[in-house]
Amino acid sequence: MKEKPDYSNWIPVKFVALLGSAGVIFAASFFASFLLSGGAAVLPVRAVLAAAAVLCLAFCFYMAHARTLLSYDGGGVQGKVLDNVLAHLGWNGVGTLIDIGCGSGAMAIKAAKKYPNAWVVGVDYWGFGWDYSKKQCERNAGIEKVGRRVVFQKGDAAALDFPDARFDAAVSNFVFHEVKSQPDKLALIREALRVVKPGGLFSFGDVFFAKSHYKDIDVLIEALSGDVSEIHFVDTRKSDFMPKYLKTPFGPGGQMGLIYGVK
Ligand SMILES: C[S@@+](CC[C@H](N)C(=O)[O-])C[C@H]1O[C@@H](n2cnc3c(N)ncnc32)[C@H](O)[C@@H]1O
Repeated sequence: MKEKPDYSNWIPVKFVALLGSAGVIFAASFFASFLLSGGAAVLPVRAVLAAAAVLCLAFCFYMAHARTLLSYDGGGVQGKVLDNVLAHLGWNGVGTLIDIGCGSGAMAIKAAKKYPNAWVVGVDYWGFGWDYSKKQCERNAGIEKVGRRVVFQKGDAAALDFPDARFDAAVSNFVFHEVKSQPDKLALIREALRVVKPGGLFSFGDVFFAKSHYKDIDVLIEALSGDVSEIHFVDTRKSDFMPKYLKTPFGPGGQMGLIYGVK
C-alpha cells in the first residue's frame, strides 16, 4: 500500500477529546447529584454542572467539525490556507526559501513541489504544545519525493540561527502568535525579515486580527514599511476558501490575515 504523508491538524485530536471528556464528566456529575440529598442547597451546584456540561459538549462538537473542515482528508482548508500564503509570495523559485515554524512540514513541502529548482529549509522548535516532529517532516518530504531539496532543523523563530540575508524567500503560517520567546510581534517579524535578502520575498500568515497578539494591524504595517521596499496586507477571512463555520471568534479562520511583499 502507498504510504501517505501525515500533516496533522491545527486542532489536535487530544484537545477535542479533552473537551468531550470534561463534558461527559460534568454531565455524569450532574446526574449523580440527583442521588445526593441536600435539598435546595444542591440546586446551584446542579445548575453549574449542567451549564459546564452543555458548554464543553457544544464546544467539543464545534471543534470536531472545524477539525474535519481543516483536515487534508476532509474539507482541506489547512492546505488551502498554505497555498494562499505561497500564492502571494510571487517567487520565481530560484534560490532558497525558509519556512519559519514549519510544523509537520506541509508548507515547506508544498513549496518544494511548487518550485522544483528551489532549496527549502523548514525551521521549528517542535516543543511543548504541538505533536509535530522533525522526523514527521522528513518522512513527509520523503513520501512526497522532495526529501533531497528540503532540510528541517530545530530552531527558535525569535532568534533564527542564520546570518542576515541568507534566504531568497521566507514564508510562515500560523506561527508568530505561538512564539512565547518573543511577545513583541513586531520584533519577531523583523527577525524573520532579517534573514531575507534585500529584494527577496516574504509572505506571512497569522492571526493578525487577534488583539491579544497584534494591537493594530495598520500600525504594524506602518512600522514594517520602513524595513521593506513593498508590503501588502490581505484579510484572509474574506477568502472564498474560508468557510463561514471557521470564521467565528473560536474558529482558526476568525482572525487570519496575511502580510506579503518585497524586502
Ligand atoms: C499552528 S502550528 C503551524 C504549523 C505550520 N506552519 C502550519 O501552518 O501547518 C504552530 C507551529 O509553531 C511552532 N512554534 C511555536 N513556537 C515556536 C518558536 N519559538 N520557534 C519556532 N517554531 C515555533 C510550533 O511548534 C508549531 O509547529
